Amino acid sequence: MTSQALLSLLADGEVHSGESLASCLGVSRTAIWKQIKRAADDGYAIETIRGKGYRLVTAIDLLGASAIVSQLPGDLRASVQLAVHEALDSTNAEVIRRRAEFEDGKTFVCIADHQTAGRGRRGRQWQSPRGENLYLSFGLTFRGGFSMLDGLSLVLGVAVAEALEALGLSPVALKWPNDVFYNGKKLAGILVELQGELEEGVVNVVAGIGLNVHMTDAGQIDQEWTSLAKAQSDRIWSRNRVAAALIESVVSAADRFATDGFKSFQSRWQARDEFYGRSLFARDGDLSGVGKGIDSSGNYLVAVGDRLESVRAGELSLRAEP
Ligand code: BTN
Repeated sequence: MTSQALLSLLADGEVHSGESLASCLGVSRTAIWKQIKRAADDGYAIETIRGKGYRLVTAIDLLGASAIVSQLPGDLRASVQLAVHEALDSTNAEVIRRRAEFEDGKTFVCIADHQTAGRGRRGRQWQSPRGENLYLSFGLTFRGGFSMLDGLSLVLGVAVAEALEALGLSPVALKWPNDVFYNGKKLAGILVELQGELEEGVVNVVAGIGLNVHMTDAGQIDQEWTSLAKAQSDRIWSRNRVAAALIESVVSAADRFATDGFKSFQSRWQARDEFYGRSLFARDGDLSGVGKGIDSSGNYLVAVGDRLESVRAGELSLRAEP
């Protein structure tokens, strides 16, 4: 695995001698050479300049817990338990494993630079290349039983959209229940998994967000997608800054949802409906109509002739008619 300490020294794109790297990291020059070789094997483009040292050819946007925490509002810093990993199978899986270690009164947030088994909705894989995107999961607890999960899923979509808008990306749209779209293409996906019911009505959930940040090329994604870098190519996006904005928005939305339920989110979701007024299919193609937004519980409404059909989360994936 590539040494994060080495990468953070090289991240400025300047030439660094083997000797200076060795002295900063307290290891031998041979150890540095080995680490450089491992980084190159891991896909980092590092140039060796004879007699001078090493240089990263393309800038990298390193993730760092302290850089993220320092960009959170002061009152939130002490109430977030943040773990940043270089690689994990899945940040959702890690939250499930770590639940017993959650600190009281804090929201557990887990971020990975790379996932080897990123999970998407409907059993799909989530492509999670190293150094490119954000993969983060929250460990949350709510009262209200399993039935509140449909609403929560929409709330998280609103939270992600509002965080991105606060960072200057607009307009961000939502494809029911919670895919985040920009310019008609998927920018982020959200996976809510139920971890268990502690006592009657108290549910532990894991909310995972995958947001494309720097990715401009991906081999195996079977739908149209975009990234922050594609959306605003003249801007330098920092994953730490975006992560802080997501954490702030999700924690605030989850608190509001826990106290007030879904009602204050209905119009916020509705204002961003990617499918409103468009012809679409639902229920695996059995239902065809026009998108009419959501009701007060977060179900999707489809106009079929002059009748309104309400569609629940488990029942559908919406598809626009070609
Ligand atoms: C979707 O299919 O749209 C949902 C994708 C959710 C991906 C994120 S990445 C962080 C978290 N960890 C996972 O394994 N999945 C979610």
